[in-house]
Amino acid sequence: MRYFFLAYAIVAVLVVGILGFRGQHFSKPPIQVFPDMDNQDKLKAQAPSSFFADRQGARQPVTGTQPLGFNESGKKELGGIPEYEFGGQTGYYYTGHVGDYYGTGMPDELGVNTTETASELIKRGKERFAIYCGVCHGESGNGAGITSRYGVPGIANLHEDRFKSPAYPDGRMFEVISVGKGMMSGYKANIPVRDRWAIISYVRTLQAAKEAATAAK
Ligand code: HEC
Repeated sequence: MRYFFLAYAIVAVLVVGILGFRGQHFSKPPIQVFPDMDNQDKLKAQAPSSFFADRQGARQPVTGTQPLGFNESGKKELGGIPEYEFGGQTGYYYTGHVGDYYGTGMPDELGVNTTETASELIKRGKERFAIYCGVCHGESGNGAGITSRYGVPGIANLHEDRFKSPAYPDGRMFEVISVGKGMMSGYKANIPVRDRWAIISYVRTLQAAKEAATAAK
């Protein structure tokens, strides 16, 4: 028992000696076993900074830049590039719904009324589909993208009849892209509303192309 108290006292002295008393302040930086990202060159709100000549940490925006979502002219454009909307409004364009039902067809807001504007939208959709959907659904939409080889199960083959119009309205696809379904997560935070419609127009093109190719055989 004597040895136990002795060992206990030694351990206690060691712990306090190394870690210090609770609340004690040190002038030297602490020993960091895993520094993680504790020390970085960054600006802190309201704090001074030795980096700038005027020693102010809080900076004015760089001349010529515009905060995201701020547009003085009222036009949905930022520096000549269409401003992106991610939803939050009501109506078919933003929800895919018409009343209690899924709507179908391309909404007027897209401004697609000529062959040229339509092919532009599809082209945009092709690019976005390759970026956001192809990894799982495959470049052709057959559900055999790269992730299926690494174990993502049950990826939908978009060429199945149940995903074609009119059985599967455009508004329903809009909702799936936005909020996801089952194993697929939603992309409403990543893909702007207009691009979601562009992707749908491209998926419809893929489906029609496959049908035409099958019919020609
Ligand atoms: C991470 C992999 C992954 C990505 C990326 C992905 N999907 Fe999916 N998708 C799935 C899976 C898995 C399912 C099957 C979901 C289920 O039924 O559980 C699915 C289902 C679907 C369906 C059918 C949903 C239904 O009603 O049964 C559609 C349509 C679809 N995806 C379109 C898209 C589009 C368009 C994109 C690109 C914006 C996309 N997916 C991106 C994995 C993905």
